[in-house]
Amino acid sequence: MRLSCRVNGEDRQVDGAWEGESLLYVLRERLGLAGSKNACEQGECGSCSVYLDDVLVCACLVLAAQAQNRRVVTVEGLAVDGVLHPVQEAFVEAGAVQCGFCTPGLIVATHELLARNPDPTEPEVREALAGNLCRCTGYVKILDAVRLAAARTAQS
Ligand code: FES
Ligand code: FES
Repeated sequence: MRLSCRVNGEDRQVDGAWEGESLLYVLRERLGLAGSKNACEQGECGSCSVYLDDVLVCACLVLAAQAQNRRVVTVEGLAVDGVLHPVQEAFVEAGAVQCGFCTPGLIVATHELLARNPDPTEPEVREALAGNLCRCTGYVKILDAVRLAAARTAQS
């Protein structure tokens, strides 16, 4: 199939995609957007989180055909002209990144949380990020990063 979709603000076309392959495969292997990670390919870890028409989804669970003529935003698309988004900066500054495999998904999920709830309580943060697994950090630094991101977002 020819897949046409808007990815990070650009119209993209992919020829030869199989309808049943995942959006994650399309992003990583066909479009070269390696930010979204493939850690489980079963919807369990959240490392592949992206926006599909403004809705947070696991890209590994979305079929390529379901992305036809739709808008996709990945972790790469949150930065503007090479300047990191405040959520991205917060994860770096808080030291919330170790191996980094979970980080793109956590950043997209945090971005989505703060867009609908700019000042979340800790239980709200924990609930929002419950689908994003990290095997390295113990989550303390991640919670610090979300708090920092919320403060930065409130200032901007
Ligand atoms: S790779 Fe998609 S949820 Fe784990
Ligand atoms: S930093 Fe390694 S999985 Fe989270």
